[in-house]
Amino acid sequence: MSQNVEEQTVHIGLMDVVASTSSICFIDGQKGRLLYRGYDIVEMVEKSTFEEVAYLLWYGRLPTKAEFERFLDSLLGDMQLPAEMVELMRLFPKTTTPIEALRTAVSALSHWDPEGNRIDAEAGMRIAARLTQRIPLLVAAYERLRQGQEPVQPIPGKSIAYNFLYCLHGQEPPELWVRVLDVALVLHADHEFNASTFVGRGVASTLSDMYSAVTAAIGALKGPLHGGANEQAMKMLFEIGEPSKAEAWVKNALANKVKVPGFGHRVYRTEDPRATILRRYAEQLTKGTEHEWLYQTCREVERTMLANSKVFPNVDLYSGICYHTMRVPAGLYTPIFAISRTVGWTAHILEQWSDNKLIRPRAKYIGPDGLSYVPIEQR
Ligand SMILES: CC(C)(COP(=O)(O)OP(=O)(O)OC[C@H]1O[C@@H](n2cnc3c(N)ncnc32)[C@H](O)[C@@H]1OP(=O)(O)O)[C@@H](O)C(=O)NCCC(=O)NCCS
Repeated sequence: MSQNVEEQTVHIGLMDVVASTSSICFIDGQKGRLLYRGYDIVEMVEKSTFEEVAYLLWYGRLPTKAEFERFLDSLLGDMQLPAEMVELMRLFPKTTTPIEALRTAVSALSHWDPEGNRIDAEAGMRIAARLTQRIPLLVAAYERLRQGQEPVQPIPGKSIAYNFLYCLHGQEPPELWVRVLDVALVLHADHEFNASTFVGRGVASTLSDMYSAVTAAIGALKGPLHGGANEQAMKMLFEIGEPSKAEAWVKNALANKVKVPGFGHRVYRTEDPRATILRRYAEQLTKGTEHEWLYQTCREVERTMLANSKVFPNVDLYSGICYHTMRVPAGLYTPIFAISRTVGWTAHILEQWSDNKLIRPRAKYIGPDGLSYVPIEQR
């Protein structure tokens, strides 16, 4: 039963509003814990893979060995883009950023999916898998086209992390890079009702299709308050330039009320557990390399933030350093977030459809009332 809007409390930014139930992901913002279907991400990062996390989020439980083998066969056995997609992306102006290209390309992909408009669980699961296969290929192919190179075909059976790096660089990636990218993909796979997921669920709640919902979610992820923050965090580190300049830079930002990218979160009131894990890998990747200064500068930024504010690091602080060390251009950081979050978005879309209710909140009207129309000549 809907209530009188005038009497309702307004929750600006839907802060702390519990909009529905979900059994996909749990965040304990006070303790800094993140669970996927009940499993702590700390354990998942150590023992699992991005592909198994995809299975877990979509099917709600871990697979048996035989189930997982079948799943991997169909997910990784035939990773292909429709040839027309490459031709389409060739037409994009060179000024099109990778995340914009991805948003358009995901929408266009639906035209080559005969099941694209189906919203039942069975087809939905297949579409989710196709999106998860194809989005990394789209991101890598567009970057190569932008650099004047031809796309590279993925190697069947190799992991998504491996094939993304392989298709991007056109050569076998070092094992440590594949491992760290896989960790990053595990860590970004889902995060409850974050902005992009909620947008995706909103679209799904109209019983529109999965491609439309994921396209809309990519649009939401693109913003610097959400998935765009990892690129901003790296820009900040380059702007600071060296560890000794970090303290002054951060103090100046705080004094001027400038938001420091990679810090703060709507839900966590302590350090984001994903930042804790990525910090470790960023250190491991950069140690003894020409990129070590980035890690050291980031540590100084963190130290100054913790001493001068109550704002903690989030997932976007260290991911960029990891990607940069793997020679991934900054414009691809948010698309990598999308590669991973596609699994979460699609799990949420399937959950939304499984017990759908149109998402349609109310607004408390604060505009004028009772105005009389004045003809244009008299205004
Ligand atoms: C993530 C974010 C949008 C959350 O926003 P929010 O829940 O609306 O919280 P607010 O922006 O109201 O911040 C609450 C307080 O913390 C401060 N704060 C939050 N994030 C901050 C940051 N990154 N740097 C400095 N101060 C920050 C705000 O200034 C505010 O202080 P005040 O109460 O004294 O005014 C915000 O923290 C932010 O913009 N972070 C930077 C971008 C980023 O890293 N995004 C990725 C998130 S995973």
